[in-house]
Amino acid sequence: MNDRIDPDLLMPPVPLRDSRGRELRDLRISITDRCNFRCTYCMPKEVFDADYPYLPRTDLLSFEEIETVARLAVAAGVNKIRLTGGEPLLRRGMEKLVAALAKIPGIDLALTTNGSLLAKKAQALRDAGLDRITVSLDGLDEAVFQRMNDVDFPVAQVLEGIAAAEAAGFANIKINVVVQKGVNEGEILPIVRHFRGSGHVPRFIEFMDVGSSNGWRMDQVLPSAQVLDMIDAEFPIEALGPHSAGEVAQRWRYRDGGGEVGVISSVTRAFCSTCTRLRLSTEGRFYTCLFAHEGFDLRALLRAGADEATLSAALEGLWTARADRYSELRADGKGRTVVPLKRIEMSYIGG
Ligand code: GTP
Ligand code: 5AD
Ligand code: SF4
Ligand code: SF4
Repeated sequence: MNDRIDPDLLMPPVPLRDSRGRELRDLRISITDRCNFRCTYCMPKEVFDADYPYLPRTDLLSFEEIETVARLAVAAGVNKIRLTGGEPLLRRGMEKLVAALAKIPGIDLALTTNGSLLAKKAQALRDAGLDRITVSLDGLDEAVFQRMNDVDFPVAQVLEGIAAAEAAGFANIKINVVVQKGVNEGEILPIVRHFRGSGHVPRFIEFMDVGSSNGWRMDQVLPSAQVLDMIDAEFPIEALGPHSAGEVAQRWRYRDGGGEVGVISSVTRAFCSTCTRLRLSTEGRFYTCLFAHEGFDLRALLRAGADEATLSAALEGLWTARADRYSELRADGKGRTVVPLKRIEMSYIGG
């Protein structure tokens, strides 16, 4: 057990506030920069090829180091931790990390996965204490899905993964669908029909200009308002309030009680003003925005043997100085002038 930081001793956590008054509440941890998919909007094959400089093993934070950072963040007010990647289930033994993090009191522990290995891992993840799962799934039509994952991965195996997660006891599974105009908007209604009544919640995400390699163009963004109109025309829906402050998805429910759907509109309706998220990269850098280009090298401090006070002071200094609001600036037409084109990739910092 890693007890370098014991949040119990520091309770109750006082959430840190950044320069715009936003609390630190969520920590998203990328545990690998590798993935077995090559989604065209995230890790296009031409860029992420055999020569791509993935991080060497020794650069990755160890599970112990990750746990130390998680405890540090919880002591500073974080109450939600999400494991992402790349594809987190590719990292060997990751259920051990889940088990260690699940022991930290007072957190909601979630995972985002492409579902490819979920059929094998769902039960072990549940047993390790994982609270929630989000599965990415961009289409039900085989040709469309394979065109998006670009490695010919069959949709049936992802659906098996979702079924296995359900059987292992995960409920209200979120299904993340990145919508790219001209590619998969025809999948919106089939996905809605498929998951209605299942208790699982599809969320349609506007294609974002994250990273520097996905060839993003505004004309490929299908505004969430149009997605909602499409759904409403077939199944009337009504808006629901957020569960918690800082939630990225706008939530809707079917008027006939068939469940819930969501939209994530970071392009047409930026949510920076309530952004409470801190990101930890695979190699131990803190990023205070998905669109950042520079991170804070926490690993250097960890490996130099820094004590708890030093680590806490570093986190406090970083969060209190935070002023990021990239999506708002993009909406104002200022994004490209504020953030240079060389940005971190989503596979490195986590989806
Ligand atoms: P929970 O509320 O914990 O269930 O998850 P969530 O609603 O935060 O959703 P999730 O973590 O699955 O994020 C869904 C998608 O929203 C991500 O894959 C991104 O595409 C987008 N997203 C999440 N956080 C941010 C953010 O801070 N900024 C921007 N611009 N997009 C984000
Ligand atoms: N736009 C929006 N979401 C993206 N993701 C990755 N790349 C993008 C992008 N360009 C998100 C998806 C996926 C998660 C792992 O990362 O939600 O489900
Ligand atoms: Fe892999 Fe997820 Fe990126 Fe697709 S979106 S390439 S599954 S990390
Ligand atoms: Fe938060 Fe940056 Fe996303 Fe805005 S663009 S919501 S500040 S991560």
